[in-house]
Amino acid sequence: MKRIAVLASGNGSNLQALIDQLNVPNSPAEISLVVANVASAHALTRGREAGIPTFFVPHEGRGDRQNYEKLLIQLLQEYAIDFVCLAGFMRLLTHRFLDAYPLRVLNVHPALLPSFPGTHAPLQALKAGVKLSGCTIHLVNEGVDSGPILAQAAVPVLENDDVDSLSARIQNVEHQLYPQVVRLFAEGRLRTKDNLFFLDGWSP
Ligand code: GAR
Repeated sequence: MKRIAVLASGNGSNLQALIDQLNVPNSPAEISLVVANVASAHALTRGREAGIPTFFVPHEGRGDRQNYEKLLIQLLQEYAIDFVCLAGFMRLLTHRFLDAYPLRVLNVHPALLPSFPGTHAPLQALKAGVKLSGCTIHLVNEGVDSGPILAQAAVPVLENDDVDSLSARIQNVEHQLYPQVVRLFAEGRLRTKDNLFFLDGWSP
């Protein structure tokens, strides 16, 4: 059984999907720890309500990025975490954190990367006039949403969409795709070929 830490900054709907679909009997992984860096993050409530050890770890007043990450690593080690899922965690991680969990940090992003990295991805998609968008699950590196892609799901962008309607459609597929990918990842199905990464057992 792999032990997962979820790092979040906001609503935590992806955290909820991970809890609902992974913290069940016979699962290869469970969410064992929730950390948020924003006091008002609803993710904190979701973690506590699910009975999972849940911590608010503010980044203000922690010195530089690497000091903050040192604290995070200590907490994750205390809870014997095997890998990490970012779920709306709006903070870049440095090599200090990533070296502690090599190829073991995943992220969900609300666009078909490499298009529209960073913040406000649904708004970027609307402004560009693309007709398909979606979500991407990728391994995290030090760049902004630039790590190796593991899986993607597409949704249509409709003429009358606004940010809210497109975001909701994308989140709907995030909530299905992220738990599927994490399950396969926990089963050790990650494979690399020619510097690209694949998850055996998953196809678009
Ligand atoms: C999700 O849609 C996720 O893809 C996005 O933040 C949202 C968090 O929602 N992440 C990024 O934009 C990362 N660049 P949630 O808190 O309800 O899971």
